[in-house]
Amino acid sequence: EERARIDALIRAMTLEEKLGQLTMLDAGRVITGSGQPVDMMTAVRTGLAGSLLNLVDPTEIRMVQRIAVEESRLKIPLLFGLDVLHGHRTLFPIPLAEAAAFDPDLWRRTAQAAAAEAAADGINLTFAPMLDIARDPRWGRIAESPGEDVLVARRFAAAKVQGFQGDDLRAPGTLAATAKHLAGYGAVAAGRDYAPVDMSERLLHEVYLPPFQAAIEAGVAAIMTAFTDLAGVPMTANRAVLHDCVRRDWGFDGIAVSDYGAIAELIRHGVAEDRTAAAGLALRAGVDIDMASGVYAQSLPDALQRGTASMEDVDAAVRRVLTLKAKLGLFRDPYREKRTGTSGSSGRGSLRSLAREAARRSIVLLKNEHAILPLAASVKRIALIGPLIDARTDMLGPWSALAKPEDAATLLDGLKRALPHVELLPVEALDPGGGEREGIPAAVAAAAQADVTVLCLGEARFMSGEAASRASLDLPGRQRELAEAVLALGKPVVAVLMSGRPLTVGWLTERADAVLAAGFLGHEAGHALADVMTGRFNPSGKLPVSWPRAVGQVPVYYAQRPTGRPLNPDDPFTSRYLDLPNDPLFRFGDGLSYTRFTLTDMRVEATSLGPSDHLVVTVEVCNEGTREGEETIFLFTHDPVASVSRPVLELKDFAKIALPAGRRGTLSLGVAVADLRYRDAALQPVLDAGTIEVFVGANADRAKLHRLTVEIRSTPSPV
Ligand code: IFM
Repeated sequence: EERARIDALIRAMTLEEKLGQLTMLDAGRVITGSGQPVDMMTAVRTGLAGSLLNLVDPTEIRMVQRIAVEESRLKIPLLFGLDVLHGHRTLFPIPLAEAAAFDPDLWRRTAQAAAAEAAADGINLTFAPMLDIARDPRWGRIAESPGEDVLVARRFAAAKVQGFQGDDLRAPGTLAATAKHLAGYGAVAAGRDYAPVDMSERLLHEVYLPPFQAAIEAGVAAIMTAFTDLAGVPMTANRAVLHDCVRRDWGFDGIAVSDYGAIAELIRHGVAEDRTAAAGLALRAGVDIDMASGVYAQSLPDALQRGTASMEDVDAAVRRVLTLKAKLGLFRDPYREKRTGTSGSSGRGSLRSLAREAARRSIVLLKNEHAILPLAASVKRIALIGPLIDARTDMLGPWSALAKPEDAATLLDGLKRALPHVELLPVEALDPGGGEREGIPAAVAAAAQADVTVLCLGEARFMSGEAASRASLDLPGRQRELAEAVLALGKPVVAVLMSGRPLTVGWLTERADAVLAAGFLGHEAGHALADVMTGRFNPSGKLPVSWPRAVGQVPVYYAQRPTGRPLNPDDPFTSRYLDLPNDPLFRFGDGLSYTRFTLTDMRVEATSLGPSDHLVVTVEVCNEGTREGEETIFLFTHDPVASVSRPVLELKDFAKIALPAGRRGTLSLGVAVADLRYRDAALQPVLDAGTIEVFVGANADRAKLHRLTVEIRSTPSPV
């Protein structure tokens, strides 16, 4: 029935109305193709817009939808898109922080909660999840990504799509999800946002594309193309990736939306002489919706005339847009009335408790000497020092415009509530953005009187996200000076780092007694940190991205290929720096607990495996400490002899286990032998017979992982 409705609509549409369906207007800055401001209501009434972004007021959304379905000629409902990335009104940790939980069920639940809140406000399309592998912390958008690893990003993709969309987009509280940004955006040259991207086909297919394939397998409704180019072909015009690979080879039948203004930017990329050429290139590549450049509306008619665009492609794009609207149930229920609850408020109990759970599980304990954490009962006075101790807005991180900062719990709030009998000496010294705010002498005076000093350092939230690249990964402004002045007292110091990226803070992590990496944790940041610092919650987060010692090491990531000259301290002609070790400050998977886990008895179920078998590894995990805790264990493989050189470690599985003090448990991890295939020199997937090294352990430190080998046969196992 929906199909017949869509066919009938397409037959009835004028070209202008078709292009309207392919046009997404920014409710904040409505411009038409001619560059003339136009009243949004007029555009909707006359069928010149099929979707809007950044309209957030539920009453306005309703009013505009009413115009679309009652006053426009064909009464086609609108899509309302918004960047609901890590929460809507209630904010959860930024994706890079939440990835540290290594918990797909948590990733799913926070997306589901965000979708319910946004859907209650009338939003029906989110521009998330962001699935760009990010190995360069200079790039501000690393904050929005799940980090450096392909498997983590694939699982993150599946969990987020499932969380946002559920099983049926018509169901209450769902949002259509958008996997973005196809593809390679995380590899911008020198980490500078919007800069060119060049990478091998191998890297593209092995690392940057698989998260998108995972999102498609999970049924993602939309894909957004990246602003950037790929070896000279802008992604907005990249038919080889969007059409040939994503649509034809992977069977994606959802919508593709451009990034903001990106179709017009094809001119500045230097691949289109004018807007007409740009329109033709984007449509031919497979971009259905023009986000906020007005090029389709203005120039596709000329492109059709010139013959650089076809009516067939226009109709196919319109059909995909209308199909999504039908899948969302908008033709029957344009206001999604059956799915709205009370409009989201960041005070709602269950959302806040999920936000607290997510925030606690996202915290990574990077160092804890002299068992300074959890704070002992004997601690009577704490100096709480730094620019971020009470910075409510910064707790929320990027993409948080709708969240109320006044509802965010800061570390000061959290410690006040958790430790009512401890005297807190707060000194909000300096400015997180590097601006001038004094306070170093007051900070030193407070630290001198305290039993323990908590230094809360990091970045302001505007320093990460889109258009927020940094050439330096140091703490901004004079924060190092502040920390050094406090450290010079020689008293116990706990450092809490809040940032949208890894920071180069070796000087600090060496000297502070304890270090917590917190990212931007959202509304419950302060309570979650207090839970960890007081021991109410035993930290279990692990880094989803390596932290470099210095910017010069970037990109540093665990899955590098071997070199013919591996580091040998006694041989200068091996792969090394003259002035730094090769390894990062912290590795992928680093993260401590208040208890201690040991791994023993690693076994494989079978040491000889055929192509359709499953490699299964079991390991005994023992909680050797005195408190309950949770550990994440990783399964890596390495193909030591293949027709092309393979990374020294590749993550194939991860799993968590919760154990009471003194208890042991068996964890089982595995990978299908088919997933041990790699791409040969011609980029064809192959499975070689031979030895595979299997590693299991708590992080990506190859030297410390437990190792076994298995033999892969080219023949199936006997039944
Ligand atoms: O979704 C975003 C995208 O990630 C970056 N440019 C703007 C879009 C819409 O806000």
